[in-house]
Order: sequence, then structure tokens, then C-alpha cells
Amino acid sequence: MIEFLYQALAKIGYTHPIHPPVTHATVGMVIGAFVFGITAWKLRHQGLAKTAHHCIILALLSLIPTVILGVLDWKYYYAGAWLFPIKMKIMLAGLLLILLVFALSAGYKAETVSKSAVILYAFCLLNVTALGYFGGELVFGDKSAGQPMHVVGIEVSGEQFSKSCSACHPNGGNSIKQDLPLKTAPQLVTLDTFLAYIRSPKARDGSTTIMPPFPADKLSGEDAQKIYQYIIQVLKEQ
Ligand code: HEC
Repeated sequence: MIEFLYQALAKIGYTHPIHPPVTHATVGMVIGAFVFGITAWKLRHQGLAKTAHHCIILALLSLIPTVILGVLDWKYYYAGAWLFPIKMKIMLAGLLLILLVFALSAGYKAETVSKSAVILYAFCLLNVTALGYFGGELVFGDKSAGQPMHVVGIEVSGEQFSKSCSACHPNGGNSIKQDLPLKTAPQLVTLDTFLAYIRSPKARDGSTTIMPPFPADKLSGEDAQKIYQYIIQVLKEQ
């Protein structure tokens, strides 16, 4: 089902995650609520207070597709791995829902905007900023934390890859499941997702697969990283 959606999108030329573009709706509306809300509070302006209130309604509505598409991307690109930024994002999204509901009722009761509503808008703003931060961590974390995807000057060797993987993945393909070649696997998006996958591989539908797990005593973190670099820098470029 998920596969089908992404393949349909790829057919019309869209090959990116689908969650990031829709996040702008929620983030934009929260920013709007805060800016209009604080202005309404300072100027005691009833019209702007209503605008802020309407922004919160749209933020709440747009949160639904944003979360659904986020879960889909997570399943597809991150193989549903419980990475730290993912846990943070899920927690923050739950908190945002609660904050927005409170902000909605605070804004609704007031004739003009109340101080507590403005404070709630400010918390929503902080929350979406943190959500954006962990989204960035997820995509760019590996590259900024001293583990660049493309390490310049490091000697990349396929030795470990030949030992552990090439029997089933010759030249980055897949001799058992031809339609799932290794070199275009979504799990290659970061080192963490790659590690999460090879430590306990699962088929796309979540069932067990022929691919054996590579726990740390079988394949050290260092060797796994070497394999990752080899796939990214050599096999993917072929
Ligand atoms: C015994 C055969 C076998 C070995 C050895 C093996 N794999 Fe796999 N691998 C598979 C199969 C089969 C799949 C397809 C999984 C499925 O059923 O969805 C797969 C899938 C993958 C995928 C995900 C592909 C996708 O698009 O879903 C990655 C990444 C991967 N393997 C990496 C590795 C790495 C790295 C090694 C070496 C450390 C390795 N594999 C060793 C058989 C193997």
C-alpha cells in the first residue's frame, strides 16, 4: 500500500519524502497565530485576535495530514526504525496537538486576545521550532556529527562488503529479490537507518526475510560503517 503510493508519485516525477512540504502549512499557521496574537494583545485589537484564532484552527486541521504523511515517510524511508529524533518528533507532535486544543479554547473564550492565549501561541511556536530541529537532525544529523556521507580522502575498500554482503548483493543488486537492489535502498538515507536495518532486517511488509541479521558481535560498528561508505561512495555511483 505504502509502496504503491510512493511508486505512483515517482511515476509523475516526485521522488522525495512527502512529509516536509506539508509541514509548512502547520508551521506557517502557528507563526501566524503568534504574530497576530501578540499584536492583537498589544493593540487590544479584536479583528487581529480573531485572525490569530483562525490560524490556530488551520494549524490544527493541517496537523492531521502532516502527521499521517510523516508516519508514511518514516515507514518508507526509515524502515520504521525507532531513532532518537523520531521519538522526539512523535512526542512533540502529541504535545503540539494538546497545546493547539488549549490555544483554540483560550482564543475562543476571549473577547479580545488574552494573555494566556498569547502564551499558548508562544509555546506552540517553540514546539514547531523544536519539531523542525529534530527533522533537521534526522536528515542532516549524520553529516554534521563528524560522519559525513561522503568522506573525502578516506580509503574506501570493498573488502568487508565482499565478505558479508556480496553473496546476495553482487554489485549492489539483490540476487534473491531482484526488485529490491541494495544500492537504491531507502535505508541508505543515513548511517543510523542503515545500521538499524542490517542489525535486524525485515521485509517491506514487516515479516521476516532471508537476509540474516548482522548483530554487533558479527559485524562491528566500524565494519558496518566501512560497508556503508563503500555502498554510498562506490556502488551507488556506478
Ligand atoms: C543471504 C542473503 C543476504 C545477505 C548475506 C545480505 N542480504 Fe541484504 N537483503 C537480502 C534480501 C533477500 C533482501 C530483501 C529483503 C526483503 O525481503 O524485503 C535484502 C535487503 C537488504 C536491504 C534493503 C533493500 C530494500 O530496498 O528494502 C539492505 C539495505 C541490505 N539488504 C543490506 C545488506 C548488507 C549491508 C549486507 C551485508 C552486511 C547484506 N544486506 C547481506 C539478502 C541478503
